[in-house]
Amino acid sequence: MNSSQLKELLLQSLVHERGGVLVYQTALECVINKDLRAEWEKYLKQTTNHVDVLTRTCTALGLDPGEMTPGCQIVQHTGKALVMAMKMALAEGDAAAAELVACECVVLAETKDHADWELLGECAQALDGEAASVLLEAVKQIEDEEDEHLYHTQGWCRELWLKSLGLKAVLPPPEERKNVKSAAGAEKARKERPAQTAS
Ligand SMILES: [Fe+2]
Ligand SMILES: [Fe+2]
Repeated sequence: MNSSQLKELLLQSLVHERGGVLVYQTALECVINKDLRAEWEKYLKQTTNHVDVLTRTCTALGLDPGEMTPGCQIVQHTGKALVMAMKMALAEGDAAAAELVACECVVLAETKDHADWELLGECAQALDGEAASVLLEAVKQIEDEEDEHLYHTQGWCRELWLKSLGLKAVLPPPEERKNVKSAAGAEKARKERPAQTAS
C-alpha cells in the first residue's frame, strides 16, 4: 500500500470530521422538523466522537493529528463553504428554505465522510500487525454510524423537498423508519415509498 496516501486519507478524514462538527452545529440552527433535529443532535455527538477516535488512531499510527497537508486545507475549505452556505440561507429569513439548504449541506458532507470510512475499512483489511488492528477497531466502531448519517439524511432531504413542492412526502423518511444501514436498504426503502399521482 502507498503509505503516504494512507497518511493523507487519515489526515483528510480527521479534518473532515472536525468540519463535520461545525456543519452539524450550523445545520441545527437551520432545522425546523423536531424529529430531524433529534437525529442531527445524535449525529453531532457521534461526529464529535469520530474526531476523538481518529485523533487517537492517527497518534497510534505515528502521525501528527495536527498536520495540515495541502489536501487537508482543501477539505477544511470545503467544510467552511458548507457552513457559509447555511449562514447565507439563514440570513435570507426563509426558514423552510434554510432547512433544505442544511439537508443538502449535510448530505454533501456525509458523502465524503462515508467514503472516507469505506476507504479506511479497505486499508485496514490490506494492512497487517498492530496498524491493522488499530484501524480495524476504529472502522468497526464507526462505519455503521456513517451509513446511517448518509442514507437517513438523503431520505430527509428528498422528503422535505417533496413536501416543499406540495407533493406526497413520507416524514420521517422510510430510510429512518426502516433503520436503513446500506445502499441496498436505502434503494429498497425508496422503491417502497408511495408513487406520486396526478391531481
Ligand atoms: Fe463521521
Ligand atoms: Fe458522518
